[in-house]
Amino acid sequence: MSKDRLIIFDTTLRDGEQSPGASMTADEKVRIAKALEQMKVDVIEAGFPIASNGDFEAVKAVANTVKDSTICGLARAKQIDIDRAGEAIKPANSGRIHTFIATSPIHMEQKLRMSPDQVVDQAIAAVRMAKKYTDDIEFSPEDAGRSEPDFLCRIIEAVIKEGATTINIPDTVGYNIPHQFGNLINDLVTRIPNSDKAIFSVHCHNDLGLAVANSLAAVRNGARQVECTINGLGERAGNASLEEVVMAVRTRQDVFDCDTSLDSTQIMNCSRLVSGITGFAVQPNKAIVGANAFAHESGIHQDGVLKSRETYEIMRAQDIGLSTNKIVLGKHSGRNAFKTRMAELNIEFSSEEELNEVFANFKTLADKKHEIFDEDLQALVTESSSEMMNEPVKLISLSVCSETGETPNASITLSIHGEEKKAQCEGSGPVDASFQAIESIMSSGVELQLYSVNNITTGSDSQGEVTVRVRSNGNIINGQGADTDIVIASAKAYVNAMNKVIASEQRTHPQRGEV
Ligand code: KIV
Ligand code: ZN
Repeated sequence: MSKDRLIIFDTTLRDGEQSPGASMTADEKVRIAKALEQMKVDVIEAGFPIASNGDFEAVKAVANTVKDSTICGLARAKQIDIDRAGEAIKPANSGRIHTFIATSPIHMEQKLRMSPDQVVDQAIAAVRMAKKYTDDIEFSPEDAGRSEPDFLCRIIEAVIKEGATTINIPDTVGYNIPHQFGNLINDLVTRIPNSDKAIFSVHCHNDLGLAVANSLAAVRNGARQVECTINGLGERAGNASLEEVVMAVRTRQDVFDCDTSLDSTQIMNCSRLVSGITGFAVQPNKAIVGANAFAHESGIHQDGVLKSRETYEIMRAQDIGLSTNKIVLGKHSGRNAFKTRMAELNIEFSSEEELNEVFANFKTLADKKHEIFDEDLQALVTESSSEMMNEPVKLISLSVCSETGETPNASITLSIHGEEKKAQCEGSGPVDASFQAIESIMSSGVELQLYSVNNITTGSDSQGEVTVRVRSNGNIINGQGADTDIVIASAKAYVNAMNKVIASEQRTHPQRGEV
């Protein structure tokens, strides 16, 4: 018997981007969107076009580039939002508008200050407006997890009648418990007379650590679309993690009567790309994509796995794209081998000039480090992207002096809009001295909130990947840098944050304020 199809709706570029500090440039969104398309994600929510010009352009750029996945833009149930989303998705082969309005008593009374009747009217009007742009319309009753089921039935029946084709049930605040959320989906699908005219979807937040469990309970009760993000990124504690949902459904086909079309061998690639771009490291014990997810420490387990893999492994590492042969390139690798491996990692270059630039950086890295892994290549691309090459502030040189018993100091040269500026500062350590030197040139006044170093691969010659998080005018901004020298990686990360501070613009948050 053929199984139903479970639609995978990825919202890394929208809800994922609502994680404080995870905002992405248009170029970064396009890179992630291409990787999601390669992984055969069905729908990519690329952003919230009304939020800012940058968001609008990013959704448009994704719609222009991605051809196989549906591209979705988020819009509150407002004319201005819907028009902006409609324009942004216009270039897509297949475009969707996702419109929403809150339906829980607390949101309607306290946030919207609207009566239930007004909310229903506005929802119907929003779907009608969206029809001008596309037939593919998704409607979400925000905070459905705390809404009255009777009211949900009423509003959902009305929007389906108006033309909504997907009904998404969000547990916006992550309040639900699996059996209860599953019952809610079952109740809605059974009670709403025209429920067969739409696909039911779920969007679960992870405030109680139940986002994946709630999503799966919903799938068991008739949901046929799951909204999720790579690495579980998202507002507050995040969203349901795509890799966990997909691998649970695939591994436990005995309990699910549906399956996804996802190419799971691209999961690792997407996970690394998203963590590299956002600077949100994946915890080692994270299910599916954590560094320890397929590692066996205890002797008993190792012995068992060697005798028969299935003794302690329920999935194959290859199925998520982890290869045992991880050494890919070295200093003798030529341009062709480099380009081929990059293509295998779904990394394309917009011009010969860009390829040459990244290849030159690869050669420099290969001189310092003998074995170049996929993770190194991905970090190289983040560093050499055309957007980064066009950034106003660049690190030209850094020299640090750190000696036992002496105060460390750093001498730095930056280029700012092409003009060289130098500074020398002391600090409590070489990283602190470097940051002080950058600040003495930039005078940004930002407050450093987080500094973290991760090794990209193993070994003492590994590149260190540094993330800095700064607060600037109330906005949280992350900067990343990678180098085999962690002081240089730190300075690169700080400079990256400075560029983002310069580029940052005021954005509207989809779920705050009035509708
Ligand atoms: O969590 C939520 O309710 C959302 C909606 C916009 C779907 O992100
Ligand atoms: Zn959400």
